[in-house]
Amino acid sequence: EHFFKPIQHTSPQSSHNRTIKISVIGTGNVGMAIAQTILTQDLADIIALVDAKHEKLRGEMLDLQHAAAFLPRTQILASVDYAITADSDLCIVTAGARQISGESRLNLLQRNLSMYKDIIPPLAKYSPHSILLIVSNPVDVLTYVAWKLSGFPANRVIGSGTNLDSSRFRFLIADHLDVNAQDVQAYIVGEHGDSSVALWSSISVGGVPVLSFLEKQEIVYEKETLENIHKAVIESAYEVISLKGYTSWAIGYSVANLARTLLRDQRKIHPVSILATGFYGIDEKEVFLSLPAQLGRGGVIGVTTVHLTDEEAQRLRDSAKTISEVQSQLGI
Ligand code: NAD
Ligand code: LAC
Repeated sequence: EHFFKPIQHTSPQSSHNRTIKISVIGTGNVGMAIAQTILTQDLADIIALVDAKHEKLRGEMLDLQHAAAFLPRTQILASVDYAITADSDLCIVTAGARQISGESRLNLLQRNLSMYKDIIPPLAKYSPHSILLIVSNPVDVLTYVAWKLSGFPANRVIGSGTNLDSSRFRFLIADHLDVNAQDVQAYIVGEHGDSSVALWSSISVGGVPVLSFLEKQEIVYEKETLENIHKAVIESAYEVISLKGYTSWAIGYSVANLARTLLRDQRKIHPVSILATGFYGIDEKEVFLSLPAQLGRGGVIGVTTVHLTDEEAQRLRDSAKTISEVQSQLGI
């Protein structure tokens, strides 16, 4: 019973029959940036937070709840017990070790693999129909791990992949050309990280293919300039980590963007980590890496057939090989 009744009801109370629930596992820099972006964008009715550290977790929950007067109404739950995640529509996993300055993403694998053995089975048990969205690094290999440990169909296991790298790419191209990044279509595919592949042949600005755009504007460019932009994308995370210790805001927006497409069935195309075997001549067995994929309420709907140059296709296959070699040493 409520201690006082501020509302005199005019009709019998019926509870809303459809709620969207998102769970975020890991409430560090990345998990909290994702949770807060999802909150401000009004993407969920319930957000459940899980972390191994009880006090930090409760502190983060309270801090977000205290913003209730300024936000759309969202119930925020938190617990170290996975029961709190029951019946989630989307489970976003960010728990794990992160890189120290100069360390590669792949170097995190052993530590994060053993954590995933504790995290994925209970998530899958409590939300057997959910979509798993993996963010912890190395994200491509851990998406494969999550797929194996969950037993979910591959269309419901997705890694945030190069959705972030592609945003960095679009920002740098936009900056270079002095246009809006939202008018730049450009994909980075392959591994999220050092062996990623820039698809120069797919870039367009306002519908104009980028190379002819540059020619039309009489902007002199060389292949080296383009390569340098891609190098800057690869360097981006290392630079941010060396400056502030971790990356958070861009991944927060990137994952909220994916959550919107998935839960609202937007059927948009995003470069994300999916089971890539059989596409673009990738013949490694069971390899996850980023390809431009159409996403909706059921998860991955399909893969777009972007035109790749021979060099791009070769680089993509090399990226698949790099990831597959790491996967083969996992023993799961
Ligand atoms: P962080 O150290 O701030 O947070 C990690 C959190 O995980 C901590 O709160 C910790 O308590 C929690 N945790 C550890 N073990 C756990 C367990 N067994 N169960 C539940 N929670 C557990 O790190 P961060 O900066 O938030 O980064 C998290 C991960 O995200 C890292 O692996 C990082 O490399 C990755 N990341 C990925 C991308 C991407 O684009 N895919 C971008 C940024 C960061
Ligand atoms: C990123 C993380 C570190 O920001 O993977 O790219």
